[in-house]
Amino acid sequence: MSEQPWWQKAVIYQIYPRSFQDSNGDGIGDLKGILDRVDYLSWLDIDAVWISPIYPSPMADFGYDVANYVDIDPLFGTLASFDRLLSALHQRGIRVILDFVPNHTSHEHPWFQEARASRNNHRRDWYIWRDPRPDREPPNNWLSVATGGSAWEFDRATGQYYYHAFLAEQPDLNWRNPAVRAAMYDVLRFWLDRGVDGFRVDTIWRLIKDAAFRDNPVNPNYRDGDPPFRRLLQVYSTDQPEVFEVAAEMRRVLAEYPGDRLLIGEVYLPVKRLVAYYGPNLTGAHLPFNFNLMFVEWKPDAVLRLIQEYEASLPLGAWPNWVLGNHDQARIASRLGLAQARVAMTLLMTLRGTPTLYYGDELGLENVPIPPERVRDPFGVNMPGTGQDRDPERTPMPWDRSANAGFTAGEPWLPLGRDLSIQNVEAQKRDASSMLALTRALLDLRRRELALSVGDWAPLAVEGDALAYIRRRDGRRFAVVLNLEPVPKAVRFADDLRGRTILSTHPDHTGYAVGDRTELDADEAVIIAMEHAGNTARPDATG
Ligand code: NOJ
Ligand code: CA
Repeated sequence: MSEQPWWQKAVIYQIYPRSFQDSNGDGIGDLKGILDRVDYLSWLDIDAVWISPIYPSPMADFGYDVANYVDIDPLFGTLASFDRLLSALHQRGIRVILDFVPNHTSHEHPWFQEARASRNNHRRDWYIWRDPRPDREPPNNWLSVATGGSAWEFDRATGQYYYHAFLAEQPDLNWRNPAVRAAMYDVLRFWLDRGVDGFRVDTIWRLIKDAAFRDNPVNPNYRDGDPPFRRLLQVYSTDQPEVFEVAAEMRRVLAEYPGDRLLIGEVYLPVKRLVAYYGPNLTGAHLPFNFNLMFVEWKPDAVLRLIQEYEASLPLGAWPNWVLGNHDQARIASRLGLAQARVAMTLLMTLRGTPTLYYGDELGLENVPIPPERVRDPFGVNMPGTGQDRDPERTPMPWDRSANAGFTAGEPWLPLGRDLSIQNVEAQKRDASSMLALTRALLDLRRRELALSVGDWAPLAVEGDALAYIRRRDGRRFAVVLNLEPVPKAVRFADDLRGRTILSTHPDHTGYAVGDRTELDADEAVIIAMEHAGNTARPDATG
């Protein structure tokens, strides 16, 4: 069997660059800041970083509005500082994944400036232009994710609407135009030539829209509190079959380069649709991000069903992946509470497939409440009071007990949270019972035991309302048993596990022999090393 590509065993760590480390006192994280923290990343022992966009941008969507795909925003640094960071990370064996934002550019991108200059500009068809309806209304009913209003912006000068799935400052590119494709593939090559190890492709499932721009149907299940754009089902505005051809083309660009460059796709779809993004014959994304753990009901049955459905739906040869947090969703510690965040981390690091860890989740960082006057995220500004603000999960990384937790010598762009005396890297490094210590122990175990990263996964039948499964590779077998509730549980297994707990969310609970039952504390998850499969039939030498 051929050696697995690096990303199958890898743990990916997402850095939101504005909030990781500021190096020049302007209150905004930057590349030099990340460089100053490379030792931390190396100590934590992650395999790859994915850095959210760092390209020149007017920052209407904090970098997801790119004005130049082949440079670095001065706020973050320069191409030279990027190269320094890349080589420092590579020296420590850490790969670098960039965020690629192909669905839309900034309205300040020269391509859009040309496109909007006149109806017959040679770049006009690089974007999506439509005539108004006879009543002057937008061409169809599609809604913007970023505002909840129409996704069409009228351009007075040329008398047509352009489409923007997100902000009006983020016009969608026309991916049916081969010239757009060619230009964007050259962008990939620019960064691949520089040595990056892969891309996370922003909102890949939106690249191709219905050719006839039909109205989206009303969502009968819309409920108060859902994001406003969900009033319609995105049937025609997303997830069109021609998108797989685009993903395959991107994949082929990566294949021009040696070293297993990685293509990750951002896809918010249920399992059945999500797995299509591996592409026909696995020609699509290596890893279509699997976000379903972030939305599943936190009960043993529901989580088990999700894992089984996902495992069963994977095309032959497709590699799984799991995500617990990112810069668009509430922090896991706020969704489930700190105690369950430890259980969730244990789950993430013991499932089959590549885990992605969001910066700060290793500390159990919580959503930071943002006073209305400090809201910066356009979702929060445009849809106040609807819970859409993403600032709470994007706040600065707390490093130590100094002013602003060591993040900046200036005024941080977003406020830091409470409890910084405990929730900081330095304090948690010294505390064997901290979330950071747990995360690191899990990463360490996962690196040492291939069964936990690339081994087989199988459910383990238990009595007692816990989530349980087995990981196995060669002779090595581990049982993972997780209590998803804040009450103790007595768990009974069908067979004698003949094992010993080697890791627990409760630090002193290791080293216990486990037979056909075990007691879990409230909010406790344990990893049990089972006796070698081959050992079970060994005659007792002391007879
Ligand atoms: C998904 C990104 O993760 C999100 O932060 C951004 O606002 C949209 N795509 C638009 O690029
Ligand atoms: Ca800075």
